Amino acid sequence: MDELERVASILWEEVYSELDYAYVRKWIEESGWPFSAYNFWFVLAVDGKIAGVICWNIFDRYGSKVILNVAWMAIAGEYQGKGYGTALWKHSLEQVIQYLANLEEKVALIMVQVDEENNKARSFFRKVLVQPIEVIIHNVWGENNGVVFLFMPLS
Ligand SMILES: CC(C)(COP(=O)(O)OP(=O)(O)OC[C@H]1O[C@@H](n2cnc3c(N)ncnc32)[C@H](O)[C@@H]1OP(=O)(O)O)[C@@H](O)C(=O)NCCC(=O)NCCS
Repeated sequence: MDELERVASILWEEVYSELDYAYVRKWIEESGWPFSAYNFWFVLAVDGKIAGVICWNIFDRYGSKVILNVAWMAIAGEYQGKGYGTALWKHSLEQVIQYLANLEEKVALIMVQVDEENNKARSFFRKVLVQPIEVIIHNVWGENNGVVFLFMPLS
């Protein structure tokens, strides 16, 4: 299985199983996989097998300041709860910050959005973002199916 197929199947299984697999795969390809001016994909491998994925997105820019957004993130089911998500988050964020620093750009704000009912991811992002500002918008995708936005300004 090539990398794109493996990443698409992790995201499909963990986040988008209600959608078509082909649709999810196309969506990733159209993001500029694995790297574009706005989207940076990272994978985490365990024993040579891709176990997790994150895609950082440049949401906005003003002068030398950047707002970073997490466009996609998932750890394959059997690898969850073992610290891999935290490791992938930290390592990929360090690399994005370094990449932007080389362009003389600085991350001013990190933002993440997650479904209201996704308690595991909410607790994950609350932990890695360190006392984030949280905004909940109810009934976005449907009744009782809202979205939580978490923001962490960086000084
Ligand atoms: C959310 C996700 C990325 C976290 O990755 P992970 O490797 O499982 O997380 P870690 O093992 O690094 O855990 C870090 C923290 O996340 C939270 N967490 C992890 N598993 C949890 C669970 N089952 N229940 C509640 N909180 C949990 C905890 O705060 C944990 O800190 P702790 O170990 O000190 O308690 C992963 O569970 C996942 O891929 N979920 C499905 C896809 C998804 O929801 N993606 C994000 C939204 S698009």
